[in-house]
Amino acid sequence: MHNPSLLPVALFDSGMGGLTVLKALAECLPAEDMIYLGDTARLPYGTKGCDTIIRYTLKAAGKLVDMGVKMLVVACNTATATALPTIRDHFAPLPVLGVVEPGAMAAAGASRNGQIVVIATEATIAGGAYQQAIARIRPEARVLGQACTLFVPLAEEGWMKGAIVEGIARHYLKHVFTPAVTTAVTTPRPDTLLLGCTHFPLLLHALQRVVGPHVRIIDSAATTAQCVKEELTRRALLRNAGHTGVSRFLTTDNCARFARTGSLFLGRPLKPDEVDLIDL
Ligand code: DGL
Repeated sequence: MHNPSLLPVALFDSGMGGLTVLKALAECLPAEDMIYLGDTARLPYGTKGCDTIIRYTLKAAGKLVDMGVKMLVVACNTATATALPTIRDHFAPLPVLGVVEPGAMAAAGASRNGQIVVIATEATIAGGAYQQAIARIRPEARVLGQACTLFVPLAEEGWMKGAIVEGIARHYLKHVFTPAVTTAVTTPRPDTLLLGCTHFPLLLHALQRVVGPHVRIIDSAATTAQCVKEELTRRALLRNAGHTGVSRFLTTDNCARFARTGSLFLGRPLKPDEVDLIDL
């Protein structure tokens, strides 16, 4: 294609969580065409080892890049935290953006007292990507990481609220939101909860009930969309505003389920015939 700005933006997640990023992108950049790939056959990534996550992510990204895209958005925190430098090297000079830096920027900017809790998958928390990214932006911040493995299947099942969801959330969060008392000082209670997994925005209302109204809950979708816009602008790749963007959805397993649950993440109905099955 002669004009690369006409190519779609590709988004990738292990499942449907990245649709929260696609939704924010579509609102921010309505003229852009998008291709979304959810690797539901291999979900979850968050409990897998680094080598496996890198292998899966390279495979999925390669599939999208082969289709002809102008940018790749890794709309999965686990894949970003584990594989972003490898993907960037592998597909250079294609611009590749992740969700960790935008999320860290948003949380570092939102917290008043510098006490931030990051919740994410086991792999994201263990790798320390968020802790390091926030430290680069706001070195005095205290960042507590908490893996919340069960939130992923809850979100994929569409279980967004109710006693069971809140009970699990309370179990994960009670320690990190209880002020640590030492002999000399009491550490202030965290005032910011960063959703470091693209699946977690679905549980927003339950989480807010558990942490209370004074804790700001941040998700990286809107900030990521803004970063995508800036990068496309910088590279003169923005699509002309006269076009209405079209999104294409790909999954590696069960289109009907992807459409059913994907609608919740996307905030609009998604029909099974809008979703194509692919193999990696
Ligand atoms: N959506 C993925 C993330 O943002 C997590 C889901 C998974 O474990 O694969 O980390």
